[in-house]
Amino acid sequence: MNILVTGGAGYIGSHVVLELLQAGHEVVVIDDLSTGQRELVDDDARLVIGDIGDFELISSLLEDGEVDAVIHFAGSIVVPESVAHPLKYYFNNTAKTRTLLEACVGADIRYFVFSSTAAVYGEPKAIPVAESAPTTPVNPYGRSKLMIEQMLRDVAFAHDFHFAALRYFNVAGADPLGRTGQSTPNATHLIKVATQAALGVRSELAIFGTDYPTPDGTCIRDFIHVSDLADVHVRALNYLVDGGQSRALNCGYGRGFSVRQVADAVRRVSGQDFPVSDAPRRAGDPPEIVADPTRLERLFEWTPKHADLDEIVSTALAWEKSWQARSKDA
Ligand code: UD1
Repeated sequence: MNILVTGGAGYIGSHVVLELLQAGHEVVVIDDLSTGQRELVDDDARLVIGDIGDFELISSLLEDGEVDAVIHFAGSIVVPESVAHPLKYYFNNTAKTRTLLEACVGADIRYFVFSSTAAVYGEPKAIPVAESAPTTPVNPYGRSKLMIEQMLRDVAFAHDFHFAALRYFNVAGADPLGRTGQSTPNATHLIKVATQAALGVRSELAIFGTDYPTPDGTCIRDFIHVSDLADVHVRALNYLVDGGQSRALNCGYGRGFSVRQVADAVRRVSGQDFPVSDAPRRAGDPPEIVADPTRLERLFEWTPKHADLDEIVSTALAWEKSWQARSKDA
C-alpha cells in the first residue's frame, strides 16, 4: 500500500516507518521538522517537509501519491506545556487534524490510524483502565486528542472511512537495531531524562511529586517499548483493511512502574549512580495510569516482544549514547 505518515521524522513515527517499509509498503513522510529529525527518516521513505495544516499540500500528496492509508503522528505531546499553552495544543493537534481529515475525505482515504493517548482517561477511577472507562482528561493535551477521536467517529459515521485510535501509554526505549530513537531536543520524557542523567548530559533527575497516593509516593506509568508499539500500527492497518470496525485501542502492557522504580532501573542498567532529587508535583500529572490491553491482545492476537523494563531502559540508553556521539561529531 501507499501510506502517508504525518510526523514520520519524530520518535514514534520514525519507528513505524521502519516497520511499514519492512512490511513492504511505500511510505511518504510529511513532517515540519519542528521536533522531528531529518536523519531519523529511513532513506527508503520519501520525506516531504511541510505542515499538516496545509490543505493544498496534503491534498496533492494524497491524490498524486495515490495514498491508501494515513498514519497520523504529527502534533504536540508535552503535558505540562499544554497546561501553559493550551491554544497551541488545540491548534497543532485539534485544528490541524480537522484540516488533515478534510483533505482525507476529499481524497477518499478509507484507512486512518491515529496516535491518541492514555491522557484521554484523565485520572481513571479503576486501574487498569479499559477503553470503556469514562474519558475525562485532566489537561489540554488529553482534551485536544479526545476531540480528535470524536471527530474521527463522526467522520467514520458519515463517510467510507475507518480508523483506529491507538491510545498510547508511556512510550519508551529505542529500536533494538539502533536505527532510530528518542531525539527530540529538550525532551521531557522520564526515561529519556533519566538516561541523560546517567550519561552525565544532565546533572540530575528531578522527581516531580513524591506525595502521590501510590506505594512510594511517586507517579505510576505503564511503559511500552516503542518497537512493540510500532508493530501495533502495522497490525492496526491490516485490521482496518481486512474490514475491522473503527475502534479506540489501549497500547500498554497492563503493568505499572513508579518514577522511583524507573530511576532505579536506569541506575541498575547503566551502572551509574546519578543524582536524583525530590521536586514539587508537575501540573497536569495523573497519579497512576496503567492499561488494560485485553482488546488489543484479542483483536490482533498481540503478544509484546520487548516488555521487560530493563530492555526498555537498555535500548534507550544505547540510543542516547549513540545520539550524543553523533551530535558531538556534527
Ligand atoms: C506521557 C506522554 C503523553 C502520554 C502519556 C500517557 C510524553 C512527553 N508524554 O506523558 O503523550 O499521553 O504519557 O500516560 O511522552 N517525571 C519526573 N521527572 C522528569 C520527567 C518526568 O519525575 O524529569 C515524571 C512525571 O512527573 C510523570 C512521569 O515521570 O509522573 C512520566 O512523565 P513523562 O515521561 O513526561 O510522561 P507523561 O507526562 O506521563
